[in-house]
Amino acid sequence: MADKTYENIKIEREGNVTFLVLNRPEKRNAMSPGLHYDVQDALRWLDDDAQTRVLVLTGAGDSWCAGQDLKLYFRETSNNPMERKRSNAASHNWRWELLTRFSKPTIAMVNGFCFGGAFTQLCACDFAITAEDATFGLSEVNWGILPGGIVSWNLTDMMLPRHAMYYAATGEPFDGKRAVEIGLANFAVPRDQLRAKTLEFAAKLEKLNPSVLRYTKEAVRAVRHMSADDARDYLGAKQDSLARADKEIADKVGMKKFLDEKSYRPGLGPYQRPEEK
Ligand code: COA
Repeated sequence: MADKTYENIKIEREGNVTFLVLNRPEKRNAMSPGLHYDVQDALRWLDDDAQTRVLVLTGAGDSWCAGQDLKLYFRETSNNPMERKRSNAASHNWRWELLTRFSKPTIAMVNGFCFGGAFTQLCACDFAITAEDATFGLSEVNWGILPGGIVSWNLTDMMLPRHAMYYAATGEPFDGKRAVEIGLANFAVPRDQLRAKTLEFAAKLEKLNPSVLRYTKEAVRAVRHMSADDARDYLGAKQDSLARADKEIADKVGMKKFLDEKSYRPGLGPYQRPEEK
């Protein structure tokens, strides 16, 4: 079946890696209500799409996302409470709920400007790879609005509180290298290598057992705000449910390879599924 097409986003494929591209480059990929509805629909579809093993979120042109569209999302809905409520719900749903619960690994490939509201989907992706010269900023303070939605929460969740306070309070822009230093991204690479390095990393993820990867990312996120006692309980139950979900885990294949066959050393490299060797 042909891929869906949308007005405000593009879907691109490289094998089992699916690129979801915010596609309003003339507005630096600012998020309009229409863009929110498109991404919401696409993420629901791609979560069940068998070809998608890794999802990459990126932007067309030289911007990743310039935040909420100040004209279409804020100004033009200010006298239309129903549309404001609908677009606000879609905005939160895809940028946080759908992305953090996406059943396959997600990578933010930050190809340029990343401002304001875009920090939510940046933090919702499991991994982030950025161009060294990308520009990040919490510009809200410049015209007297707070890093709203859940952006302030995202900042304190992802960065050390000193960094969160500094960048939220000053609005000072920073580059991709600094984004790595303060915990917002995993790697910063030269812009001309961004896509190749992202695909290289995606290929590593594709080789891992998808059930283990999914349960691990769900668990790492879930325990973040639990007590140690709750986390211990949760992780025990989660491990049992992983063994029910995946025969390879139930059969303890990896452990047999290490202890009995002595054919694999987990400390020296990731386990590859037999059929993918
Ligand atoms: N909302 C609405 N429109 C936006 C936008 C946003 N967040 N960001 C950029 N645009 C629009 C501009 O208004 C301009 O539209 P026009 O061509 O109709 O005039 C177009 O995108 C290009 O923007 P421009 O400022 O000319 O591009 P630039 O490359 O010189 O600068 C930015 C890019 C992202 C640095 C700059 O546009 C900017 O500071 N945007 C605001 C970012 C922001 O504060 N976001 C937080 C919102 S919560």
